Amino acid sequence: MSSWAKALVLWLCAMVMTPWTLALPEGLDDLGRPATEGEVAAWDIDVRPDFVGLPPGSGDVWAGEEIWLAQCASCHGDFGDSNEIFAPLVLGNITEDDIATGRVASLTDPGVTRTTLMKVPTLSTLWDYIYRAMPWNAPKSLSPDEVYGLVAYLLNLGYVVDDDFVLSDTNMAETQARMPNRNGMSLDHGLWSVSGVPDVSGSACTTDCNVSVNVASSLPAYAMNAHGNLAEQVRDWGPYPGLWTEPAAEPEQVAAASAAVEAAVAPEAALTAGGCSGCHQMAGQLVGPGFAAIRAKYAGQEHAAYVRDKIVNGGAGVWGSMPMPPMPAVDDEALQQIVAWLTSGEE
Ligand code: HEC
Ligand code: HEC
Repeated sequence: MSSWAKALVLWLCAMVMTPWTLALPEGLDDLGRPATEGEVAAWDIDVRPDFVGLPPGSGDVWAGEEIWLAQCASCHGDFGDSNEIFAPLVLGNITEDDIATGRVASLTDPGVTRTTLMKVPTLSTLWDYIYRAMPWNAPKSLSPDEVYGLVAYLLNLGYVVDDDFVLSDTNMAETQARMPNRNGMSLDHGLWSVSGVPDVSGSACTTDCNVSVNVASSLPAYAMNAHGNLAEQVRDWGPYPGLWTEPAAEPEQVAAASAAVEAAVAPEAALTAGGCSGCHQMAGQLVGPGFAAIRAKYAGQEHAAYVRDKIVNGGAGVWGSMPMPPMPAVDDEALQQIVAWLTSGEE
């Protein structure tokens, strides 16, 4: 760089920096500290497609199955095939041919139900996603060994690996070579390539434009408040106001019950052992309604029989279209505790 160019860069930097440093109020100029190595490491968990970032460890199909049944099956189904909470992760529709070619042929058929394992080209993505984001209600709670086991189990469900398979950091690359859709990802289009010509052409639109837009889909009832009230999470300027997803009914009752939940002792152990916490949290909706809202609705002994029956036999339609599965495995004493707490009202 020539010396005048250097001077120009320095001057530009000074112009940018000066107002910033001057704008800091007194006493705030030494705020913060460099992140520690441990803090950086805790965030730096990405696993690249070339497997850089993969922590050492291993897990087999059977270990994976055990963790799956305890922590994943309630939402994704025992065999990853449920479509109730998310699209199926695996169905038995990947062929030997797909594995040989690395391209799931049936993806070109619009009538076929698509699954995660049919689409995902890179094993690292599956590993990374589970490690950082699942289970949905407790992300980042799995150890690397548990994730290796879970991925092995999912691959086994899709007939990509055998029952006695052990996945580890040392055979990920080898296993990648069996990913059914490993050759299905293309980079040669507008989403990835920003040079050349765009991959869309607007001729249809410029001759026959729609003047009004009819929104034909809406958020299903069971997803309404899954991430809190959307309207409160959107900027109050701009074209998207955000949908009001808070349940309209009895907000003050829910608030009062939230306070009461804190006061009344929840049978935490029974709720966790009973597998309720995967779908219910105290306040706010997860998969099912928050316990605060349930307690507000069913305060009073007269509701005990109904609540008990619903827990044992499951059902749908009271809070939305998402069903609650039957929970027959909860033992009697735990059930009694839970029902008593749910119907105990605000005292
Ligand atoms: C409480 C319900 C729930 C539980 C429990 C749960 N998941 Fe999920 N899972 C979801 C939802 C919802 C999504 C979609 C999330 C999104 O797209 O933001 C998802 C997405 C995924 C995906 C990505 C699928 C794709 O195609 O994008 C994988 C893989 C996955 N889950 C694996 C697991 C594993 C493994 C466990 C257990 C350790 C687990 N999940 C537990 C609800 C759950
Ligand atoms: C797989 C997810 C899931 C699990 C696990 C789960 N629930 Fe639910 N629960 C739901 C859903 C969804 C609803 C809403 C059902 C409806 O609208 O009728 C619900 C509703 C309820 C209700 C209100 C019923 C009504 O008719 O108003 C109670 C009480 C309840 N759950 C208790 C429990 C208890 C106790 C457990 C553990 C033993 C549990 N749930 C486990 C998803 C779940």
